[in-house]
Amino acid sequence: MTLPRVKTRSHAAAPSESARRSVHVVTFGCQMNKYDSLLVEGRFVTSGYDLTDRMEDADVILFNTCSVRDHAEERVYSWVGALRKAKEERPDLVIGVMGCMAQRAEEEIFQRATHVDLVCGTRQLQNLPSLVDEVFERRRCAQDPTAIEGVLGTDMEGRVRVDRRGEPYAGGLVGHLAVMRGCDLNCTYCVVPTTRGRVQSHPIDDLLIEARWMVDGGARVVSLLGQTVNSYGEDLPKPAPCEPRFSGRQGRASLADLLRRLQDVEGLERIRLITLHPSYVTQALAEAIRDCDKLDRFLPLPAQSGSDEQLKRMKRGYTTDLYRARVDLLRAEVPDIELGSDWIVGFPGETDDDFEASLAFLHEIEFVQNYVFQYSPRPGTRAHGYADDVALAVKKERNQRLLAASERTALRRHERFIGADVDVFVESESPKHPGRLRGRSRHNIPVSFDGPAALIGATAQVRVGEASAYGLTGVRCSED
Ligand code: SAH
Ligand code: SF4
Ligand code: F3S
Repeated sequence: MTLPRVKTRSHAAAPSESARRSVHVVTFGCQMNKYDSLLVEGRFVTSGYDLTDRMEDADVILFNTCSVRDHAEERVYSWVGALRKAKEERPDLVIGVMGCMAQRAEEEIFQRATHVDLVCGTRQLQNLPSLVDEVFERRRCAQDPTAIEGVLGTDMEGRVRVDRRGEPYAGGLVGHLAVMRGCDLNCTYCVVPTTRGRVQSHPIDDLLIEARWMVDGGARVVSLLGQTVNSYGEDLPKPAPCEPRFSGRQGRASLADLLRRLQDVEGLERIRLITLHPSYVTQALAEAIRDCDKLDRFLPLPAQSGSDEQLKRMKRGYTTDLYRARVDLLRAEVPDIELGSDWIVGFPGETDDDFEASLAFLHEIEFVQNYVFQYSPRPGTRAHGYADDVALAVKKERNQRLLAASERTALRRHERFIGADVDVFVESESPKHPGRLRGRSRHNIPVSFDGPAALIGATAQVRVGEASAYGLTGVRCSED
């Protein structure tokens, strides 16, 4: 993304009281933020605002932010800073910061960026239109326009649950569905429990309604989102003795139940999961994955490190042996399952041996997709107090070496498919090569092949001819 250039509009007058105001949302961070941005846009539409794709046309500009690494926050400040001049020229403009960084930094944002009018945390997103209305109200009533206080909505008590059926679905063919919010773990490096609070799972019936609404609106693939998506349901109330019991702890709903129910949503072709945690991989879940043929044969199951010493310092809650046992359990039920991982390099105390253990673990498990992050100390986390003692150059080198190892395992895993016919869910046309389609296999591997655009949104059978570390290419098996 490049920084915005926002000019004064040619029709510089402030909108009249009756004119509809327009909103533009800029999204940083993970899929959860993408989901939240759409949810917020929907709230604005139902509250009488228009949406605009052009920042320079907007009356309200909102940044949905990430706090996971320092760099993510700095990027937001650059974007917000680039609007300072536009705000001077157009004092009627509303600039808001929402999401994880808003929740973490709260008032600090008003101090660092004095032209920001609104800061909204992760549990108040459903109230954003009223918070923006409050900005306008404060301006209307102000005696001294230079002394208006910013509006702060960072209360964590709320519950972000919205019935979206009154809104048009705008998430495209591959939609995101947050099945839960927050995280109850406390990995020592991680800011997410602070920014998103404790776990709140949404009831299965509500999720089925939302999935139905997405499919009716055109979604064919639904990615179920949660920080530890396989702990879904553990916080839900226990069913009363007269109520039907689910397969989770003490009869609570679990991800296994949710998968089995989603399997019956007509028109839904594929289900994806983001992100699983090894501690919550159970036999019941492995069986549900085996039985749910709409579910991709790929699971993101971040290991973070291959060194037991480091896993302990990270407080991940498992050893490499426990991780191996969970993989065995999954592969016993679904032998061809592919796994992906996130890795942190340069976490405090990481020695050469610790790093070599991560490399060896990546090869051993044969992770096909790997995201590597250089450790970044985050305020408010336990590891913030540890010495950040791995030099930047070493972090960078380890990052490169893990990525190179990842390319090798990906190539090896991809080569298994040469000569095979794979089902490809077609997502788009290649922007560079007209007539070339792009999609993903059941194992979530990118596949490209020549075919008509009419196939977008459908499943095509492709005979794989070539494999690289980045995906597969092939030819369509038949014209049906
Ligand atoms: N809930 C997911 C991860 C969410 S954050 C899980 O437990 O796997 C996404 C990724 O960012 C993490 O997997 C981790 O690899 C990385 N990350 C989190 N905090 C970080 C930090 N302080 N520095 C560098 N990377 C970090
Ligand atoms: Fe962060 Fe750990 Fe929770 Fe993932 S499981 S969000 S890394 S605290
Ligand atoms: Fe996602 Fe970043 Fe928040 S990774 S949960 S947007 S801190």
